[in-house]
Amino acid sequence: MLVSVERSSFASKYMKSLIVVIALLVLAPSVQAQQLDPIQNTEGRKTISLDGEWKMIVDPYESGFYDYRYQPSANGYFKNAKPKSKTELIEYDFDKSGSLKVPGDWNTQSDQLFFYEGTVWYKKSFDYARRENTRLFVYFGAANYFADVYLNGEKLGQHEGGFTPFNFEITKLVRDTGNFLVVKVDNKRRRDAVPTLMTDWWNYGGLTRSVKLIETPATFVHDYFVQLRKGTRNRVSGWVKLNGDKPGQVRVRIPEAGIDRSFTADANGVAAIDFDADLKLWSPEDPKLYEVWIGDVRDQIGFRSIETRGTEILLNGRPIFLRGICMHEEAPLRGGRAHSREDAQMLLGWARELGANFVRLAHYPHNEFTIREADRLGILLWSEIPVYWTILWENPATLENARNQLSEMIARDRNRAAVVIWSVANETPLSEPRLTFLKNLVSHARSLDPSRLISAAMERHYTDPVTQMIDDPLGEFLDVLGCNEYVGWYDGLPAKADRLAWKTKYDKPLIMSEFGGDALYGHHGDSLTRWTEEYQESIYEHQIGMLKKIPFLRGTAPWILMDFRSPRRPLPGIQDYWNRKGLVSNRGEKKKAFYVLQRWYRDLATPPR
Ligand code: GCU
Repeated sequence: MLVSVERSSFASKYMKSLIVVIALLVLAPSVQAQQLDPIQNTEGRKTISLDGEWKMIVDPYESGFYDYRYQPSANGYFKNAKPKSKTELIEYDFDKSGSLKVPGDWNTQSDQLFFYEGTVWYKKSFDYARRENTRLFVYFGAANYFADVYLNGEKLGQHEGGFTPFNFEITKLVRDTGNFLVVKVDNKRRRDAVPTLMTDWWNYGGLTRSVKLIETPATFVHDYFVQLRKGTRNRVSGWVKLNGDKPGQVRVRIPEAGIDRSFTADANGVAAIDFDADLKLWSPEDPKLYEVWIGDVRDQIGFRSIETRGTEILLNGRPIFLRGICMHEEAPLRGGRAHSREDAQMLLGWARELGANFVRLAHYPHNEFTIREADRLGILLWSEIPVYWTILWENPATLENARNQLSEMIARDRNRAAVVIWSVANETPLSEPRLTFLKNLVSHARSLDPSRLISAAMERHYTDPVTQMIDDPLGEFLDVLGCNEYVGWYDGLPAKADRLAWKTKYDKPLIMSEFGGDALYGHHGDSLTRWTEEYQESIYEHQIGMLKKIPFLRGTAPWILMDFRSPRRPLPGIQDYWNRKGLVSNRGEKKKAFYVLQRWYRDLATPPR
């Protein structure tokens, strides 16, 4: 840090030194890495997993990042330093420290970290003999919440947001042996963050999803969007983005459909693609996935159209009712942040058992295994960014953060047929700044992906004691209305639903995006005793009666598939920091209400004679 003495010209000297520092930073790209848009589809590429045990240091005071003056230190833990002599003072040592499994949250790996919110440093050593004419990237499936990433002591960059992927190019920094990747992960909640201070889910911290190295050719297929053009069922359109200095041509092949076309990339490396194709359409009844080659990248892609017409939701041109359930990314049976294919198979397996053809992934983008499993199983998905409750609407950095999380969510899953709805918010209080913020997100989502529906989980109000109205001004900008209501739990007793009617000022389809109540599995009593399975069962019986009478209802997603952890739920012997609104307990036991919903969904799925 450059220091000057003469006060009078302090400002000018300070400005000069600042310019020098910035110039140094900018001019030294040879050692600096570059954050790029997430690389599309890591499954279809040459990757090396860095999952497993990582060394870790718990650093509540961030003394591995800041000096005692709370200034960023040049010799932080990212240097992974070792004393070179008996006199040298080094006050940390990764290799003598504990370890954490990656992927995984730290809260459920150690009792000491169960409630911990703060910084944990991760370190992974690896060797990598890079081949000629190849490039190398380090890819993170997610890190909750704020990550600072270093390789061999050099800062690669940082990422904000706990549920979306990010990657850095390390081609110039990696060495054949002795690489050390260090990540500072901080899950402290902040008022200006997304989500903000208050949520109803556990703030699981850490490298919660897989970390891998991706090796690519010098010019490679960085990203692509290959879907049916909106409103058609036989025209594939989209684009391919090449990264490298020799963009040229890109080949798109769908061998099973006899498609083998080449497209020319423009100066930015982007090739627009557009061609007729006679394809079997993806649907819950027949989730057809095609092997698609985009250059040398193989993917499994389903083709379907999704649109609305008045209050109808049309899948492949035909009206559909979304028999859904909400789901948190809570690992079944073991608890903690779910991250594996097995977790996804178990959770979506229960949704299938319910008779669901739709799942609302709450309240943040879930891991890619869940999305791809839904693609395979034929389950339609609602995917959402954590713009939840009282976000700091007038803070430009908060808006930028939310936009970025929306971009990354859409970037990762834009080729997944299962994803039909992007949601920009959940239960956000009415105000002009909020509307401006959310309209911005809606138009951002439409600019990134014109092919899917946009929604949000809104709230309703009474226009009289028995009439519920959905007229949130945000509804005007959405394709599908989402509404959360808790008649029978937060709002009266279960039978209240019998006398309620629903209205909306919009000629649009409604998805009841949340309803339900808590029950502890195995806790029994009469249907008016809260926390019992019988009370929850009664809520569902009365809810279903009410829902059947709503003329513009086109989907339901009760809250929630499985009990999940929440710091807002301490009731001893009942909640014990679990939200008990699941139809399945966290140990996989099905509650009585599970069968009430299952019966209704089976009826709905049975075509009228
Ligand atoms: C809200 C909210 C959920 C929450 C649920 C509940 O509607 O969207 O995140 O968990 O209600 O209170 O159980």
